[in-house]
Amino acid sequence: MNLLVRGGTVIDETGERRADVAVSSGSIAAVGDSLDAPDGATVLEAGGCLVAPGLVDLHVHLRQPGAEEAETVESGSRAAARGGFTAVVAMPNTDPPVDCAPVAAEILSLAAGALCLVAPAGAITVGRAGERLAPMGELAALGVRLFTDDGAGVQDAGVMRRALEYARGLRARGLGVILAQHCELASLADGGVMHEGGWSSRLGVPGIPAEAEELMVARDLSLTRLTGGAMHFLHLSTQRSVALVAAAKSEGLAVSAEVTPHHLSLTDAELAGFDPNYKVNPPLRGAPDVAALRAACATGVVDAVASDHAPHPPEAKETTLQAAAPGMIGLETALAVALMALGPTDGTADDGAPGRAQSPEVAVAAPALSPREVVGLMSWRAARIAGLSVDQGGDQGGPLVPGAPANLCVFDPTERWVLDPARLSSRSRNTPWAGRTLTGRVRHTVYGGELVVLDGEAQR
Ligand code: DOR
Repeated sequence: MNLLVRGGTVIDETGERRADVAVSSGSIAAVGDSLDAPDGATVLEAGGCLVAPGLVDLHVHLRQPGAEEAETVESGSRAAARGGFTAVVAMPNTDPPVDCAPVAAEILSLAAGALCLVAPAGAITVGRAGERLAPMGELAALGVRLFTDDGAGVQDAGVMRRALEYARGLRARGLGVILAQHCELASLADGGVMHEGGWSSRLGVPGIPAEAEELMVARDLSLTRLTGGAMHFLHLSTQRSVALVAAAKSEGLAVSAEVTPHHLSLTDAELAGFDPNYKVNPPLRGAPDVAALRAACATGVVDAVASDHAPHPPEAKETTLQAAAPGMIGLETALAVALMALGPTDGTADDGAPGRAQSPEVAVAAPALSPREVVGLMSWRAARIAGLSVDQGGDQGGPLVPGAPANLCVFDPTERWVLDPARLSSRSRNTPWAGRTLTGRVRHTVYGGELVVLDGEAQR
């Protein structure tokens, strides 16, 4: 398929320039002014749009195998493509979990027909039970790069120490694996439903203290130091968590961190209506936490924004706050919500009509990252953590130069739209953004040279 992306502004790790992008046979054929369309090319009008490397989501739940009523590799990859993603890392808390080569191989075979690259993550421990190490070497031999028991943290420090040593050994053999921790101490978090603070007291709902996360961040930073290992911290949610990571980075520890669009935008005050769509792990925190996470994105302490797309069927959400499953879908809203939380505008229109992607008490001036910096958190920087970037032998994250793989996200950073859950490609509907006005919309996605999304619509 030949394509010409015409009239946009190209943004990638190397900078920003007005240019057309020509795509031919899966690769970028040319980048420049007033390019002629390749033979038989489809022309994509990109006036007013940014043309970026495809986005890379480090953290999605695709529910296959085991919960196909909520999502499948195919439906999740379609949602990803409509969100501008050309690669996602699929968490291993499936049923059965991805703790052995056959399950990873099954996901890889399903991924062959997907609308974006689907990289399965492997479990750190067998059954994600936190006791015996999973055969990470076998999984790494299949191409698995990121290992996590996500959905739960590895509770036992001795097990985590051995996992860090095992992963370090695999890296010494040239397998670029990384451990990723869901930081949550079960002894403090179990039974909790939302952030422990003023709102949980007022609502009479059991809380999860910030310390449930921070104690595990602190412990795992110590274990990283002890082992000379490397660690990625998933979905950090508190002010002190990012402060701990900042200190570890200045010390030179090999650590990286991600935050989610929802933790950058929403607070625990949203739980006042007892709506289970706001129930998520880690829980939505307070306004000072949101401000600290935003600042940590601006200072480089946070390396990536990841959706933690967590689809659930209606019966798991249409129940009480206490009984509901935690998690929210996010692939199709991640870019807009991240741009609104971190970018130069919070989505308020020229006529003063507000964008409503943020809880009222955090609707203050954002750190004003440029759209290119926001995309960096969601593309080339994320790709590097996942081991998927071009300089690591992968095909994600750009830069957009002739000869490079044609993975592109074309988006209009100013388009305002109202999220209608019925129009999502995900099989699930558990989004907190239903009916909210978002700013920033994906127009076209090109994956491996194929136009998978045109004018916001999936092409297959
Ligand atoms: O809210 C969450 N949902 N947090 C997790 O860590 C797991 C996820 C899920 O799998 O639903």
